[in-house]
Amino acid sequence: MTQGRKRVVALISGRGSNMEALLRVARLPGCPYEIVGVVSNVPGAKGLEMAARAGVATAVVNHRSFETREAFEEVLHETLLVFAADIVACAGFMRIMTEGFVGRWEGRMLNIHPSLLPLFRGLHTHRRALKAGVKVHGATVHFVTPELDGGPIIIQGAVPVLPDDDEGALAARVLQVEHRIYPAALWQVAAGKCRLEEGRVKTSDWPVAERARLFCPDVDILPRQD
Ligand code: GRF
Repeated sequence: MTQGRKRVVALISGRGSNMEALLRVARLPGCPYEIVGVVSNVPGAKGLEMAARAGVATAVVNHRSFETREAFEEVLHETLLVFAADIVACAGFMRIMTEGFVGRWEGRMLNIHPSLLPLFRGLHTHRRALKAGVKVHGATVHFVTPELDGGPIIIQGAVPVLPDDDEGALAARVLQVEHRIYPAALWQVAAGKCRLEEGRVKTSDWPVAERARLFCPDVDILPRQD
């Protein structure tokens, strides 16, 4: 029954809740992708257990075992080839990747970042959002390019920043959005309805209304068509 589905490998470094969300949607009828493997650069990463319990093959490529970034990436790349990955989904994968490695997966590697890019690239996004006093925050799924958190945006999801928020409360609200938009983006990419062309995201047959509802489901910004 899995014939024709795109083979996705998730790269993780920790908890793996985004990977779990991708996996949950992969089980829905008609989903155009399957998660064929989960690879972590951190031995003992919590998400590995979860993947194994779900019957997904796992592998560890420990970056600390390599002298150079390139040597690490060479083995990571080979591992992805062993899984015969069509698409690579970075899901809390905390490694900066070289241009060479990224180039090999151009248009086939996605990432989720916990901010409304291009705001707050890098780490501690929720802390920085609170400090900046923004009233809207969120998450972004984008194609990976050599520029850190700088690749073309596929979809974003927004949440309000509430007056009493601390970093944890805001992170939890954003995480819910992450779990909704990442599977949606991967679905479209796997279905061939969203692709990277000449450095830009091209979509076809992905209704604007659906994307708008994913962006901010609590606000009806477009007339409903159903
Ligand atoms: C998520 O917030 C993701 O956006 C960021 O790291 C976190 C990973 O969480 N890149 P999880 O491992 O998916 O639970």
